[in-house]
Amino acid sequence: MTILGDILRSNPAAKISTSLHRKGISIRHVAFALAFSISLWTIYYNYLRRSDELQLFPEEVFYYPPETPEVWSDRALQVKNAFLHAYHGYERYAFPRDELRPLTNESIDNFNGWGVTAVDSLDTMLLMGLQEEYKRALPMVQQSNFSLPQNLDVPFFETTIRYLGGLLSAYALTNDDTLRAKADVLGTLLSPVFNTTSGFPRFSVDTFSDYGGSHNSVGVLAEIASFQLEYAYLGKVTGKKEHVDHATAATRAFAKADLSLSGGMYPTRWDINIGVPVNLHMSTGALADSGHEYTLKQYLLTAKTDKANLEMYIRATTHIINNLLFISPQRQLLYVTDIMTWKDDVRISHQFEHLACFFPGLLALGVHTLPLDRLDTLGINVTDLFKDLPVKHRKAYEELAHFNLADLHLWAAQGIAQTCYLTYADQPTGLGPETVQMRSGGPFGEIPWMEAMQVWRKRGRKGSPPGVGDKRQWAGDHNATTAKERDIAANSRDYGVRNQDYYLRPEAVESFYILWRITGDVRWRHRGWAVFEAIERVAKTPSGYASVNKVNTLKPKLQDSMPSYFLAETLKYLYLLFTDEDPVPLDKWVFNTEAHPFPVFEWSASEKAAYGIP
Ligand SMILES: *[C@@H]1O[C@H](CO)[C@@H](O)[C@H](O)[C@H]1NC(C)=O
Ligand SMILES: *[C@@H]1O[C@H](CO)[C@@H](O)[C@H](O)[C@H]1NC(C)=O
Ligand SMILES: *[C@@H]1O[C@H](CO)[C@@H](O)[C@H](O)[C@H]1NC(C)=O
Ligand SMILES: *[C@@H]1O[C@H](CO)[C@@H](O)[C@H](O)[C@H]1NC(C)=O
Ligand SMILES: *[C@@H]1O[C@H](CO)[C@@H](O)[C@H](O)[C@H]1NC(C)=O
Repeated sequence: MTILGDILRSNPAAKISTSLHRKGISIRHVAFALAFSISLWTIYYNYLRRSDELQLFPEEVFYYPPETPEVWSDRALQVKNAFLHAYHGYERYAFPRDELRPLTNESIDNFNGWGVTAVDSLDTMLLMGLQEEYKRALPMVQQSNFSLPQNLDVPFFETTIRYLGGLLSAYALTNDDTLRAKADVLGTLLSPVFNTTSGFPRFSVDTFSDYGGSHNSVGVLAEIASFQLEYAYLGKVTGKKEHVDHATAATRAFAKADLSLSGGMYPTRWDINIGVPVNLHMSTGALADSGHEYTLKQYLLTAKTDKANLEMYIRATTHIINNLLFISPQRQLLYVTDIMTWKDDVRISHQFEHLACFFPGLLALGVHTLPLDRLDTLGINVTDLFKDLPVKHRKAYEELAHFNLADLHLWAAQGIAQTCYLTYADQPTGLGPETVQMRSGGPFGEIPWMEAMQVWRKRGRKGSPPGVGDKRQWAGDHNATTAKERDIAANSRDYGVRNQDYYLRPEAVESFYILWRITGDVRWRHRGWAVFEAIERVAKTPSGYASVNKVNTLKPKLQDSMPSYFLAETLKYLYLLFTDEDPVPLDKWVFNTEAHPFPVFEWSASEKAAYGIP
């Protein structure tokens, strides 16, 4: 026996190959045939079998007890008491500084030191009927001259949404001229940020030297696009053209930008000098969120006249629904994520951020206020909106046309908001983490929502659309004893927790509030109540409420921070969710991104002429 014989004995594949070789068939042929059948199988599996076998779960129907009206008014009262607890702690230990540190009873000046918690809270007090607290806060606000102890830069975005928004909203609810005058002073003080070629604001302003402070030429979408509501309304109530001009300049710059590479959606970073996007990162979370929110809201605030902003809203939401929405493999949780395009490569992060939980509320608001399926009645030719985009984006739009747009937007809103809720309900604390990493694997790979929707449609639209029907909270991993069992339990949740903190944020309950108002579906109230109970149970301290770390464990830790938006937004939306009164109806008021309501207004003919508004 030769050495070759030994190899043949121990290696049957080599034996076969030698025998095939004798018949004139080489290994190369075999490999080719194998590769060919694998690719055939892959095509079959991915495109044919996948759409045949993609499991669509029927909805589960949960029973919510029909509460009496007294139950809800009592819950509204409990939220009001929570506000009083937080605000009294702030008054006692931190006023007139910016925020209370709720563990040490110290104060912190993290937003210019102009008493941000008080200013941010004014309209919440007014809506809750807390006249005493309001009267105590007012003199400080009226005396503030917005000076800084040192030569510090004032951050434009945060100062606008919290202070300017707070002042304007309190003015709108009281007609107190001193508040309007303060807003005018502040709006003017901030205005050097607009000294850019594009009209997009810089990050910050140095109020001593009057200079648009930051030298950074790259701006973040959320920060350069979230001030039009404030400046347009400020211009309306002061009659000053320069305020209005700041708002319209940004709208014009956005309308003019070439968005063909980003499918008609604003990317997250922009060159504020030349007014063009500098990346192809698309998101509804951090960096982006209120940039999308303000397109629809600017249209609504101006009594539905600002068509350019409406068109941007329709384009962006179409792109988001087609490209940023996915369902998880096991529980079919519907979520919105972010994508980065680089050359022909699209990287999908599959992260789902708490910040993105405002998005279902925005979609729901659009469904409530727009004739989404009759946009032609508003003079919008929808085909035209997409005609300059690359073919794949136009095609994607045509796919949406199999559905009523209003249905689709509402389903997306309900499904994503439910996932927001489940990220709370799944945790032992009942509080939702800042970021989760969705599982995108599974037998069918990642599942774009619209693909699942088409499968559902082709199968006769039975049951709830994918990702929309009621889902149970995660069973937990309490019974898992081995690593393998823990793995299985973790997989069955469909996501991992990336950032374990809950910063007392409002986005989830904000969406529950809007969904409750526009659908009357009591599930949103129950979900909001569960969130409020968890906040009371976990985050309450003797002097206020604290951000929570490790919400996904049985031993959460409190952080020494109570952000002003907890009083401005989280507690306001919870209160509005439970109270049967509707002091700020969604078709008469528009909430800025800090939950400060401004009344809808129309430009008069002379204002239009003076300000160059079409
Ligand atoms: C903070 O204030 C509350 C309420 O007055 C008090 O009960 C608590 O002991 C104080 N905490 C500290 C660390 O001083
Ligand atoms: C602004 O107010 C502060 C504190 O009340 C005061 O010290 C300062 O002199 C005032 N500055 C101006 C320019 O009025
Ligand atoms: C605006 O920018 C120009 C050019 O950079 C500069 O000369 C001018 O001083 C700036 N104005 C303000 C108010 O910052
Ligand atoms: C809408 O625009 C497309 C081209 O973009 C055009 O072919 C079509 O006629 C327009 N429809 C209406 C109703 O104007
Ligand atoms: C865990 O075990 C308990 C006791 O055996 C059982 O009642 C419960 O249903 C189990 N939970 C899960 C999620 O399997």
